[in-house]
Amino acid sequence: MLILGIETSCDETSMALVREEEGKLEVKKNIVSSQIKIHSKYGGVVPEVAARKHVETIFSILEEFVEDRKKIDVVSVASGPGLITSLLVGAEVARTISYVWGKPLISVNHVVSHIYANWLKEKTPSPNPSPQGRGIIEFPALCLVVSGGHTELVLMDNFGKFKVIGRTLDDAAGECFDKCAKILGLGYPGGPAISAYADKLKVKSEKLKVELPRPMINTPDFNFSFSGLKTAVLYKVRDLGKKSFGESVRREMAFEIEEAITEVLVSKTIKAAKKYKVKTIMLAGGVSANKNLRKKMGEAIKVELPNTGYQIPDIQYCTDNAAMTAAAGYFYAKTGKFTPWEKLKVDPNWEL
Ligand code: KG4
Ligand code: ZN
Repeated sequence: MLILGIETSCDETSMALVREEEGKLEVKKNIVSSQIKIHSKYGGVVPEVAARKHVETIFSILEEFVEDRKKIDVVSVASGPGLITSLLVGAEVARTISYVWGKPLISVNHVVSHIYANWLKEKTPSPNPSPQGRGIIEFPALCLVVSGGHTELVLMDNFGKFKVIGRTLDDAAGECFDKCAKILGLGYPGGPAISAYADKLKVKSEKLKVELPRPMINTPDFNFSFSGLKTAVLYKVRDLGKKSFGESVRREMAFEIEEAITEVLVSKTIKAAKKYKVKTIMLAGGVSANKNLRKKMGEAIKVELPNTGYQIPDIQYCTDNAAMTAAAGYFYAKTGKFTPWEKLKVDPNWEL
């Protein structure tokens, strides 16, 4: 099966071709046009600007796929959650292709797509391969979905069977990275910026001058809260004043922010994995590109749950891309979840 994926839910315009053969998914083409440069001026995504940019970009990307149109079997589009005006661009293009080229249409959930990025054929070896075998995902699995709009612990009993067992009560982890980076003047997107700054801190063993809270790390549930962390950063910067807020403090802050977010995410994921006795732990979403999180989660699993598998998407499939949308399309298609083109609707708040 050859699946065309279309993704425009936030600030990346992307189309991809994924081939499925005997259940294995291989990415044939994946074009991602990022609007980061445009939005970085504003310190975050401006929805109206994002939608206009999608309209400007998507047709030149589509041209790259016209030669493949005869071979394409299905069209898969992310129709929510996301920014409504951005989602509409991808949805209208998908609907038109479905009608004009006569292809079945699949409407997929963007969060589910992030999770299915774990089934795209691995290009880089896992840092902590699953004891069941490389790339094998056994159910029940637990996926920590961490992106700019989501922080959720999702229990997956089988393909298409998702249950959210915990989520953030306020800001998402990626949102926290982005807002903290804005406070520190490190630009957008904040995750990679904070991570790069944290790496600049040479001596990491010394006691840091800056200590930040680990919100909700000891609560018995599997929920998260990151807005307090952002406020703590804001107060620290204010208290230090402009004079003492030099490069070294900024590095310490970046390091401590990354540590605090990672510790909470790892701790809650391990606790949930123990309770639900899962066989595999997965990461998904833009924040799962974070090196520190990928490493610390692997280390914690090795020590605390040595018989549990660990699966992470390739870096390029962590942030928004249409290869994952196509992957999700394959699993939806298997269960016959097609949407007639005239019935396609976008849902900015589509929950799992
Ligand atoms: O999944 P994604 O591309 O879009 C949403 O669906 O939200 O995630 C974007 C988020 C941003 O908040 C960005 O700062 C964060 O992912 N991110 C990272 C890294 N790369 C992207 N956060 C931490 N470390 C990274 N390396
Ligand atoms: Zn996303």
